[in-house]
Amino acid sequence: MIPHSRPYFDKNDTDAICRVVASGYTASGEQARMLEQIVKSNLCRKDAVAVDSGTSALTLALRALMVGQRVKRVGIPAYACASLLFAVRAAGCEAVPMDCQMDLRLDAEKARALEDSLDVVILVHPFGMIEPLVNQAWSCPVIEDIAQAAGAELDGKPVGSFGDISIASFYATKPWGGAYGGMILADEDICSHVRRMIHPDTADFTQPYVGHHQLSDVHAALALSHVKKAKDELKRRAQQFKWLDACLPKALVESVAHRYQGSMYRYIIRGQDRAKDWLLGLHQAEIGAERPVQRPYDQALGATCMGAQQAWLDCVSLPVLVHITEGEKSIYKQGLKDCF
Ligand SMILES: Cc1ncc(COP(=O)(O)O)c(C=O)c1O
Repeated sequence: MIPHSRPYFDKNDTDAICRVVASGYTASGEQARMLEQIVKSNLCRKDAVAVDSGTSALTLALRALMVGQRVKRVGIPAYACASLLFAVRAAGCEAVPMDCQMDLRLDAEKARALEDSLDVVILVHPFGMIEPLVNQAWSCPVIEDIAQAAGAELDGKPVGSFGDISIASFYATKPWGGAYGGMILADEDICSHVRRMIHPDTADFTQPYVGHHQLSDVHAALALSHVKKAKDELKRRAQQFKWLDACLPKALVESVAHRYQGSMYRYIIRGQDRAKDWLLGLHQAEIGAERPVQRPYDQALGATCMGAQQAWLDCVSLPVLVHITEGEKSIYKQGLKDCF
C-alpha cells in the first residue's frame, strides 16, 4: 500500500536525538529553547512557547486570552481537523462552526456574518492552502493555525505572522513534523500567561493549571532537525504535485483551486459525491488515499454547514510522500490510471 503520508528521517535526525539522550537531559531545556528561537525569528514574533502538541497550543492560547477577559464563543472552520473542536472544548469554550466554500477555504461572507457574536476566531490554512482572511481586520482576537501550512507565505510574509496569536504543530506528518509537539507564538504578555499554566512548580495559583504541557528536548531536537530541512521537503512536495498533475485527468487536476499556494501539504481531488467510491477504488489499487477530514463536526454542534457536508462527500486526499521509490511510483501511477 502506498501510505497516505510518511515522515522521512535521516542520520541528522537520529544523531540529534542521540545527542539529547546522551546528555542525560531529556525534559524541556536547551533544545526546546532553540526551537522557540528559530521559529519565533522565522515568523517575526516577539515570543514563543514550545508545548507538547498543536492541540495543547490551541487550548493554551485560548486560556491565555481568557485571563482578564470573557472568551466564550470561538469560531472554528467546520471542515477541519477535530483537534480544533477538542481544543476549544478543553478551554471550556463553545465552538461555533464556520462553513467552507468550494475551494475548501472559509466562506468569508458567512464567517463575517458570525463575527459580531464571536469572542475569538481560529483561522486555519486548510490542508496547506492559504486562508486569505488572516490578512484582514477582525473585531475579535485571531488565532492563526499553521499546523498544516508551516513554511508557506502570503504576500511575501510567512504564515504564522498574521494573527494576534499563531500556533504550530510538530506532529510527525506535518510540514514541521518531528514526533509530537506544538508552539504558541505571540507577544510577551500572552506567552507569559501560557508559561504560568504549564509547569506545576511555577504555575500561578489564580490561573487554571492545564497540565504538564512542556515540549521535551527529545521531541524538540527532532522538530528542530525537521524545521531545518522543511524548505527542501516543500520543493519535493511541489515536484510530487506536478507528477500527480501529469498522472490525473485534467478535470481532477482542476477540481480544487489554489492547490499550488501554500505548503502543498495535501493533494485533494474533488467530485460530486465521489469520495466513497474513489476511496474504495484507490484502496483496491493499493493507494492509501484518505478523507481530508475524517468526520465533519458541525452536526455534533447542532449546526448544519452545507459546504462542509458536501466537501466530506466530495473530497479525497491522495498520498504525497517527500521520498518515494521508483517502484512505488509505478504502482501509484498504474493505480491512478485504473481508478480514473
Ligand atoms: C489544522 C490543525 N490544527 C491543529 C492540529 C492539532 O495538532 P496536534 O496533532 O499536534 O495536536 C491539527 C492536527 O492534525 C490540525 O490539522
